[in-house]
Amino acid sequence: DEEKVFRYRGALYPTIMSPAENLEALRTLEARQEDVVLVAYPKCGFNWMVGVLRKIITTATGKKFLDAPPHIEFLSPEIQKMLAEDASPRLMATHLHPDVMHTSFMEKKAKILVVWRNPKDTLVSFYHFMNKNPVLPNVEWDKFFSDFMSGEVIYGSYFDHAEAWEKLFDEPNVKMITYEDMKEDLSGGIRQVSQFFGFSLTEEEVQTISAQSTFGVMKDNALQTLGQFRDVLFRKGEVGDWKNHFSEAQSQQMDEEFSKRLAGTRLGNKLKY
Ligand code: PPS
Repeated sequence: DEEKVFRYRGALYPTIMSPAENLEALRTLEARQEDVVLVAYPKCGFNWMVGVLRKIITTATGKKFLDAPPHIEFLSPEIQKMLAEDASPRLMATHLHPDVMHTSFMEKKAKILVVWRNPKDTLVSFYHFMNKNPVLPNVEWDKFFSDFMSGEVIYGSYFDHAEAWEKLFDEPNVKMITYEDMKEDLSGGIRQVSQFFGFSLTEEEVQTISAQSTFGVMKDNALQTLGQFRDVLFRKGEVGDWKNHFSEAQSQQMDEEFSKRLAGTRLGNKLKY
């Protein structure tokens, strides 16, 4: 299991999905101002938003996307180079911490959408993903809980990522959205996101994308593209499943960490923790 993860500049990464050479190659990737950049800590709703963004871009511009994995850190150095020739607007999606992403994303003022999710549900989703994904080490609940709290999980600490984005909260090219808000009002989320990236959609187009982006419809459609891996990525798709996993003590420990690291911050308030 040790070899399924490795350490790069302090944080753990999945060896098969994003080997060090991919991460190294990303340091030379040049962002464009017109890039559509999506960032999400693991299990916060990354694939959901990738689906939404692909539909928004295709509807607004006619650009089509391949079913290739959307994460730029999953792509080989060669494919990353090919991205240089891809027509704009490119969709650049990643789990990487902002300090590990190439600095040109901020320098070029590419628009960056960051998706967040309540850390308790994020941890639960992460735990199941570790145990269902064959290229990742299996984990035991109590041990994974403490590893998540100390940041010893792939892509690093939830709270480190959150604190880093909190500092960038007011940047005009950065927008944060939450999994919970998308669950509550998917059409509203789609309207906000397309407006932020400057794509104008009719209300009918918003409704079509919304109907295509529910958990059930996305899961059904993913059978074709993902096969069995579908059930690894689409598990439950609900808010509050942490209640079925956390002990009272673990819930309290997370509450304490949240109040220490995020309570009262702009991102903390947005999470409505
Ligand atoms: S990954 O592997 O880090 O990229 O995972 P990520 O895509 O960020 O998160 C996976 C969780 O998102 C849920 N999901 C959805 N929820 C609601 N609606 C839609 N359309 C949707 N698509 C995916 C998925 O089920 C995972 O959450 P859990 O709680 O495990 O079900």
